[in-house]
Amino acid sequence: MNTPRAGAPAVDKEAVRARLAEIGPAINAIDGWLDPNDGGVLYQLARYIAPTPSVVELGSWKGRSTAWLAHGLRDRGAGRMVAVDTWAGTTNEPEHAKLLAGYGPDQLFEEFRANLRGLGLEGRWSRGA
Ligand SMILES: C[S@@+](CC[C@H](N)C(=O)[O-])C[C@H]1O[C@@H](n2cnc3c(N)ncnc32)[C@H](O)[C@@H]1O
Repeated sequence: MNTPRAGAPAVDKEAVRARLAEIGPAINAIDGWLDPNDGGVLYQLARYIAPTPSVVELGSWKGRSTAWLAHGLRDRGAGRMVAVDTWAGTTNEPEHAKLLAGYGPDQLFEEFRANLRGLGLEGRWSRGA
């Protein structure tokens, strides 16, 4: 990992490992692509490295990566997480079309919201165009 931002408290690596082990299983149960180790990196970037506690994620799907980032901000004690997605899949990605077959117009977004709610990461998630 990179050096923590200036003024941040020293990182207790054992405590971070324990925290990742605590939150990881529920996050990794969300359908998605993000590797668990990469999730741990996102968490630490949001919690310790980002110079400002604001994260904008492009491409959230059902919220797996969003959850790692949002947990990092929450454990940081401040922050704002913005998740951007069409919630309609990537147009030229056949795997997305397959996974979304039979989905209604808001279904993927509602799953995203429910997944974050299930992890206690409530928010004013709103669907925009
Ligand atoms: C590989 S998935 C993201 C995986 C997710 N980060 C995870 O942790 O599993 C890519 C996402 O990008 C979104 N996407 C594709 N094109 C987009 C666009 N032009 N604007 C916004 N989101 C887009 C898709 O809907 C899809 O949810």
